[in-house]
Amino acid sequence: MSPVVELSDVWVELGGHPVLEGISLAVDEGEFVSVVGPNGAGKTTLLRVILGLVRPARGDVRVFGTRPWELGRGRARIGYVPQAEGIDPDFPLRVIDVVLMGRYGSLGWIRRPGTADRRAAREALELVGIGDLATRPIGELSGGQRQRAFLARALAAEPRLLLLDEPTTGVDPAASESFYELLRRIQERGVTIVMVTHDIGVVSRYVDKVACINRRLVVHGRPEEVLTDEALAEMYGCAALFFHHGRVPHMVVRRHRTFRRGEGR
Ligand SMILES: Nc1ncnc2c1ncn2[C@@H]1O[C@H](COP(=O)(O)OP(=O)(O)OP(=O)(O)O)[C@@H](O)[C@H]1O
Ligand SMILES: [Mg+2]
Repeated sequence: MSPVVELSDVWVELGGHPVLEGISLAVDEGEFVSVVGPNGAGKTTLLRVILGLVRPARGDVRVFGTRPWELGRGRARIGYVPQAEGIDPDFPLRVIDVVLMGRYGSLGWIRRPGTADRRAAREALELVGIGDLATRPIGELSGGQRQRAFLARALAAEPRLLLLDEPTTGVDPAASESFYELLRRIQERGVTIVMVTHDIGVVSRYVDKVACINRRLVVHGRPEEVLTDEALAEMYGCAALFFHHGRVPHMVVRRHRTFRRGEGR
């Protein structure tokens, strides 16, 4: 069985600067993978490569066996929850209208949403647990509720591959965990998930694999096997300690002691 996503020696340059260097990575069908790395590491760019929005200067990308920019209508099989954008509190759309937008990819430009589209949108809202908020203006939702609405928008298209970019930014720890649990339930329906996150310790409990990138792929594999002190140090460029409490890893960034002038040494 060929992987759902396959990057082979992918190099990307943006604005004359190298952003991704020689990334090779495969994601199998039904896998839940998290992509971690420091700010500017190229994580969002990696998702944009998978979406076919950025073309590599070198190397090959396959999504469902096809180059992503040649997927055509097959693009509708990919759901995307982009990195959080602010929303004007007066933005006039209701939650259900935002979720219905997820159907436009399969609707084309001419057809108006029909019963099946409305049903899919409703089901997606129920699945993410905010069915009761359907008619509320999107601008009135809390950050966590809004992220669920954006997830519902992606799910309304019934994707086989779901890409999420830091979906729990600004969401409290308990709500983040229930969001990851929700993603696990979506994975159980056979959806392949690639999620960018900074929540490295917590997410390790939910994902099958983690890919650590800092322009290059530092490591890729099962969290408990690849999240070593060395990998974290290479990724974050600082001494990092990683404690494993059973399967629950915690990361502690080791602080360098700073001395003020005149302090006894
Ligand atoms: N359109 C662009 N033109 C030029 N440079 C870009 C462009 N988009 C991104 N970059 C640069 O590419 C690098 C990687 O950006 P990217 O957004 O992929 O990082 P990231 O890992 O998602 O970071 P963050 O954690 O802050 O979201 C950064 O140095 C960024 O400035
Ligand atoms: Mg990013």
